[in-house]
Amino acid sequence: MMGMGSCSIVAFVSGKGGVGKTLLSVNLARFLASLRIKTVLIDLDMLNRGATALLQPSVGDNEKTFSRLALSNSQPEELELRQVGEFYFLPSTSTGEIVDWKKLPLDYQQWRKLLLNTLEKIIQKYQPQVIIIDSEVGPHALSIGIAGVADSTIIVSEADPVTWDGTLNYRSYLVEAYGDKKQFFFLLNKVPEKFNFEKLNQYYGEQVSRLLRNLKIISFIPFEYDVSENFGEYKFIVDNLPESVFSSKIKLLAYDLLKERLPEYPRSQLERDRAAIMKRIRPKASRFNRQVQIMGWLLTALGVGAILLSTSYRMLIENPTMTVGLVYGIGGTILIAYGYFRKK
Ligand SMILES: Nc1ncnc2c1ncn2[C@@H]1O[C@H](COP(=O)(O)OP(=O)(O)O)[C@@H](O)[C@H]1O
Ligand SMILES: [Mg+2]
Repeated sequence: MMGMGSCSIVAFVSGKGGVGKTLLSVNLARFLASLRIKTVLIDLDMLNRGATALLQPSVGDNEKTFSRLALSNSQPEELELRQVGEFYFLPSTSTGEIVDWKKLPLDYQQWRKLLLNTLEKIIQKYQPQVIIIDSEVGPHALSIGIAGVADSTIIVSEADPVTWDGTLNYRSYLVEAYGDKKQFFFLLNKVPEKFNFEKLNQYYGEQVSRLLRNLKIISFIPFEYDVSENFGEYKFIVDNLPESVFSSKIKLLAYDLLKERLPEYPRSQLERDRAAIMKRIRPKASRFNRQVQIMGWLLTALGVGAILLSTSYRMLIENPTMTVGLVYGIGGTILIAYGYFRKK
């Protein structure tokens, strides 16, 4: 843990886009601010500018943005953050700005220096307790630099082989830059309903510990239709969908990462959050499914037994075609049922 005096720096990074870094950053900032934690959110994604687009519909050309700092048009001393509700915010670019990538540093060490300098100035001027960084997608040098300056770097991934490849690649760059001594966190977001969380935990537990000695699973968050549906419309899921698993997970994440900084959150509330999550990720439907499945098997067994009894061996002699049809039909049904109910 490097730390910057009394400020904790949390960064969300990833090897693939669209995994939820922006949504996580913005909502974590909002939740911390709601607990009266002095929080700064900085958008370091100069391409997608997700947090900026979400929080600040218009940012003028002359306003303070991260891109201006990065392109050396201004000094960190001149930094001025905007206020978004209860927290401070640094936009990544102005509205419509196309950043000239050829003018940006190509080396992560250079970025690291610029970032440290910037963070130091922000801490001096605003004295935040927590700084949250919404990163661009890796492995551009900037995102490697970000992973190096944060106390808690959270690698966000999704539960599919495509995203996993990106995560693997990104992690290789991190190891190259920082060795595997530095601690990183792993967060699996947008987990599809078809997955069983315990199996997922086992699977990723093994994969992740093989990947990086110091990569710790910190959270699994299910895909939620309401969350996805309202992106861009709702600024803050924690306010607009307080009953969502996503909101509860944000709170638990805050406590896992920053417990010593946070005021006592009612234990009963944390437990209610946990219980709500368990109910949601193991929906009643799954128990219902199992009952339906058992009923199905019972009925099938009874039906098959009855058919076999009633047709008896005479049918085999009188109507061999129908017998073959029955055998194929039943065999096929069993295969379909097996394929359908097999859990990933
Ligand atoms: N847990 C979730 N359930 C459903 N949709 C999600 C979840 N997390 C993120 N999303 C959606 O995924 C999309 C990409 O999210 P975003 O935060 O922009 O990712 P990134 O910043 O990594 O590119 C958005 O439409 C967002 O609403
Ligand atoms: Mg984003």
